[in-house]
Amino acid sequence: MKIPDKITSTEALESFLAEPYSQTIDAMRNMKGDIIILGVGGKMGPSLAHLAVNATRRAGVKRRIIGVSRFSNPAQQKQLQHWGVETISCDLSKPEEMEKLPHAENVIFMAGRKFGSSGTEPETWLLNTIVPGMVAQYFRKSKIVVFSTGCVYDFACRETGGSKESDRPRPVGEYASSCLGRERVFEYYAKVYNCPTLMFRLNYAIDLRYGVLTDIGISVYNELEIDISVDDVNIIWQGDANNRALLCLEHTDVPPAILNITGSEILSVSNIAGEFGKIFNKEVRLNGEPNTCSYLSNAAKSVKLFGEPAISVGQMIRWTADWIRQGGETYGKPTLFQVTDGDFLMA
Ligand SMILES: NC(=O)c1ccc[n+]([C@@H]2O[C@H](COP(=O)([O-])OP(=O)(O)OC[C@H]3O[C@@H](n4cnc5c(N)ncnc54)[C@H](OP(=O)(O)O)[C@@H]3O)[C@@H](O)[C@H]2O)c1
Repeated sequence: MKIPDKITSTEALESFLAEPYSQTIDAMRNMKGDIIILGVGGKMGPSLAHLAVNATRRAGVKRRIIGVSRFSNPAQQKQLQHWGVETISCDLSKPEEMEKLPHAENVIFMAGRKFGSSGTEPETWLLNTIVPGMVAQYFRKSKIVVFSTGCVYDFACRETGGSKESDRPRPVGEYASSCLGRERVFEYYAKVYNCPTLMFRLNYAIDLRYGVLTDIGISVYNELEIDISVDDVNIIWQGDANNRALLCLEHTDVPPAILNITGSEILSVSNIAGEFGKIFNKEVRLNGEPNTCSYLSNAAKSVKLFGEPAISVGQMIRWTADWIRQGGETYGKPTLFQVTDGDFLMA
């Protein structure tokens, strides 16, 4: 994979996010069957589907890559089709729609709900627990990679090196509890149907259009205060996370495998802000007192399986700084990484 010095347009970003590892190409050559990605219409799904198409083509094999979402953003559906992804518009919470989906040997479940406004908690539980039950039963003959989150763990202190897969989950707050609910429902049906499954516990993917680095970089650029009450974070380039998601299809198991997906380093928000300050030549305005613990995951198991992520933290910071300076597209969706009470509701 050739790593560019600069990423200067959305097209270039999309193209690089969809670059497969050589391991991913090999995995696509050896894998049997089609891949269906449920909840493809979000921040990560389009680049994952695009990557799956590229890796499959470069492996010289044929398979359907099917992307399923409601496609609230119709332009996204067109873009996916242009990349060679077959799209199906479907609301997964409606059984009559879900049960028309084609079966595929490989399923990646990405539909999820994190942010909402007060009063929409029932929708979060519907999407994060009831829909998984429907999907797990319908796709019981498939392998399933379930996108989950490091928020299912309790907060961890920097000295511990982060939560490990063997740690007992202790979710804080309603969103994290619903995410553990999603895992437990998939785990239940994996055992009932002997369905190989893997819980993909992700911490903070970095795309230039959103993510922890974009949140911090934009604040430094605009000389806004940065809340450092959560000073420790893990991040991973979205292309690395997506390559790992495809590779995880080979590591599903019964009972389900669990894998933390993030970078090896525990980073400090104040240090990252300092790096942006130097690049932008701006004064950094920090606010608050660091809490001792935050959402931190130990990536050792996934790094042992797949190697270190291809993109370093320094490279991500430089790309993000260039992106902000050139006024690159952003989604306007903050990660809310500073949340420590588990409450991700917006006013
Ligand atoms: N991005 C991260 O850094 C991160 C970190 C930890 C965990 N995760 C988890 O990883 C998964 C993917 O992340 P993401 O950032 O791409 O999430 P996202 O932006 O929230 O995307 C999920 C997508 O699922 C689709 N969806 C929602 N309800 C649906 C329904 N009823 N039927 C069909 N599709 C539905 C939506 O697209 P439509 O509106 O088109 O239906 C939505 O955009 C999520 O489960 C997320 O919680 C992500």
